[in-house]
Amino acid sequence: MPEPDKEGKDFCLDVEAKNDGFFLKGSNSLDWGMKNRLARIFNPTSGRTVMLAIDHGYFQGPTTGLERIDVKILPIAPYADTLMLTRGILRSQVPPSYGKPIVLRASGGPSILKELSNEHLALDMEDAIRLNAAALAVQVFIGGEYETQSVHNMTRLVDMGSRYGMPVLAVTAVGKDMARDARYFRLACRMCAELGAHYVKTYYIPDGFETVTASCPVPIVMAGGKKIPEPEALTMAYNAVQAGAAGVDMGRNIFQSEAPVAMLQAVGAVVHENLPPQQAYEMYLDLKNKG
Ligand code: R5P
Repeated sequence: MPEPDKEGKDFCLDVEAKNDGFFLKGSNSLDWGMKNRLARIFNPTSGRTVMLAIDHGYFQGPTTGLERIDVKILPIAPYADTLMLTRGILRSQVPPSYGKPIVLRASGGPSILKELSNEHLALDMEDAIRLNAAALAVQVFIGGEYETQSVHNMTRLVDMGSRYGMPVLAVTAVGKDMARDARYFRLACRMCAELGAHYVKTYYIPDGFETVTASCPVPIVMAGGKKIPEPEALTMAYNAVQAGAAGVDMGRNIFQSEAPVAMLQAVGAVVHENLPPQQAYEMYLDLKNKG
């Protein structure tokens, strides 16, 4: 039995107890575990994140740049803030010593050969916890053929996530023939947030993106989309964060770049330090030339 310690005397009576709000938009009423996971994804100083998305194989197989995760992605993954991928790639390719937070793809089903909106949940919460995920991502197809089913996938995941302190990222997926405008994205992002998503991934649009972020009560991360030239991708990321995005979740514009590590670092400077696009491009070229 240890000796009882001396009774405490220093109660710092002149220091008021802190009652800080949480740094992320709309997230102050979440529980500790949920906030802790979000604070691993989003940098508490900048309030933003650079997520590297490599989950494309879950519906399109080994696409360009993702043929060999061990060769092409593992060397660049340490330069991202967060890695977004499937559990299959995580278990088979990523060493458990990789220290960055993991966002796991939690929906799936159809391939590019079929109707993509016909997804179901494709991951159990227990496995997500076993894999120490920091958040789960689910596709939401507003206006798509299986719109309601995809919304219900999200709400079921939010219910399970709330039980275990696991944040849910709703990914707004736009059908090929649908208009990609501010009106659509306001609708899609707001619906995801209203129905419980803890943060939302959506596409940047030059006209009215600030109305999309303003009307969404939780953080939005910008989706990368198809590969475009580096200066354009850096400009898009810059414009998105200036218009209220809490960072980016980019895939092809990173891993299909000629210099993915340089690109990740330049995007990081845009996102966390507000580096203007021209300077970010110069940074990219400089890092690329240094090899
Ligand atoms: C899309 O909806 C999936 O999550 C993608 O596999 C991925 O996130 C897309 O990333 P990007 O469009 O930047 O290549």
